[in-house]
Amino acid sequence: MKKHESPYKCHIFVCVKSRDDGRKSCKNNASSELRSTLKSEIKTRGWKKVARVCESSCLGVCEAGPNVMIYPQRIWFSEVTLEDVPDILQTVEGFLGSDE
Ligand code: FES
Repeated sequence: MKKHESPYKCHIFVCVKSRDDGRKSCKNNASSELRSTLKSEIKTRGWKKVARVCESSCLGVCEAGPNVMIYPQRIWFSEVTLEDVPDILQTVEGFLGSDE
């Protein structure tokens, strides 16, 4: 095993878990579109080297989905829609200048 320090100030995990058994899941509420929009906006802003958008499976809070979590800052956004993307990006921007 090799151990490395992450080059990213934050990882933005977007749950894209899908279910077809009737239980609520983030993907069933358009989280894939949310993920691709965040990814595109991060690229447009030139933040690709410091902020990483990642697909995640279930984050354990399905009923509150779609869910987006930011680490290592431990921020959890729930019931996220595309209209929330500017607020999420503003939050991320606040982390880019810090060493947290
Ligand atoms: S399906 Fe997204 S948190 Fe569980």
